[in-house]
Amino acid sequence: MLFLKMPKCLILLFYLVFYGFLAALFTFTMWVMLQTLSNDIPKYRDRISSPGLMISPKPDTALEFYFNKSDAQSYAEYVSTLRKFLETYDDSKQSQNINCTPGKVFDQNDVAVKKACRFNLSELGQCSGKEDKTFGYSKGTPCVLVKMNRIIGLKPEGEPYIQCTSKEPGAVEINYFPSGGLIDLMYFPYYGKTLHAHYLQPLVAVQLAINSNSTNEEIAIECKILGSPNLKNEDDRDKFLGRIAFKVEMTE
Ligand SMILES: *[C@@H]1O[C@H](CO)[C@@H](O)[C@H](O)[C@H]1NC(C)=O
Ligand SMILES: *[C@@H]1O[C@H](CO)[C@@H](O)[C@H](O)[C@H]1NC(C)=O
Ligand SMILES: *[C@@H]1O[C@H](CO)[C@@H](O)[C@H](O)[C@H]1NC(C)=O
Repeated sequence: MLFLKMPKCLILLFYLVFYGFLAALFTFTMWVMLQTLSNDIPKYRDRISSPGLMISPKPDTALEFYFNKSDAQSYAEYVSTLRKFLETYDDSKQSQNINCTPGKVFDQNDVAVKKACRFNLSELGQCSGKEDKTFGYSKGTPCVLVKMNRIIGLKPEGEPYIQCTSKEPGAVEINYFPSGGLIDLMYFPYYGKTLHAHYLQPLVAVQLAINSNSTNEEIAIECKILGSPNLKNEDDRDKFLGRIAFKVEMTE
C-alpha cells in the first residue's frame, strides 16, 4: 500500500490539505448563496398571495363574543385588548408618519427608508375609544376591528372595502368606520418589517348595534373583503382568506 510506505507526517499533511480544501469549498458555496438573498424581501415568492382577515379583540374561545352589557367585568377584557391594540395608532406615536394622498397606491420603490402613512384614529368614529371608553360594549353596540394581514408588495386593485353580514337578518344593524368600510389604497404596498418600520395597517371598525329583541341570542356575523378583484374572499381550504366569521351573544 502506498500510504503504509509514506512517512506519518506526509499522511497528516495529506488530510490537512484535503479537509482544508473541503472547508474552503463549503464556505465559498455558502457565501455565494447568501449573496443572492436579501434581508428584506423573501427570495422565493411564486406570486403575491391574497391576505387573510383578522379581528381584534380576538376572543380565546373560537371567535365567540359573550358579554353582559350591564356587567362591565364581562367585557373588560375586550375593552382592554382594544385599548392596547390602538395604542400604536395614537397621534403621539405617529409623529414621524406622513399624510398620504387618499385613494392612490403609495409606491416608494426608489427611496431607501420607506415612509408610513398616518392613520388618524378619529376615522374609527364611535369605535375609536375616544368618546366611548367602552367601545360600545356598555350600550349594546360593540365594536370589532377588522384588518387584513400584511403582505409584502401587495397592491389591492379597485376600491377595497369590508362588508359584514348577519345570518339572522334584523338581529343587528351594522355600521362601519371609516364609512362604507373602505380600506384606502394609500396604505399599500407594505415593504416589510426592516424597511417599513413604522407601517400601520389600515383598520375598519365594525359596530354591531344589537336589536333589543335579539339579546340572549347567538348572532353569527361574517365579514368579507369586497371591491378588489385581486383580493380573494372565497377559498374552501382557507376560511380566513379575505373573510372572517365570528359570533356575538349579548345579555343584559
Ligand atoms: C347582567 O348583569 C346584570 C348586572 O350585574 C345582572 O343583574 C344580570 O342578571 C346579568 N344578566 C345575565 C344574563 O347574567
Ligand atoms: C385627525 O382627524 C381629526 C378630525 O378630522 C383632526 O381634528 C385631527 O387634527 C387629526 N389628527 C391628526 C394628527 O392629523
Ligand atoms: C327585532 O325588532 C326589529 C325592529 O326593531 C325587527 O325589524 C326584527 O324583525 C325583530 N327581530 C325578531 C327576531 O323578531
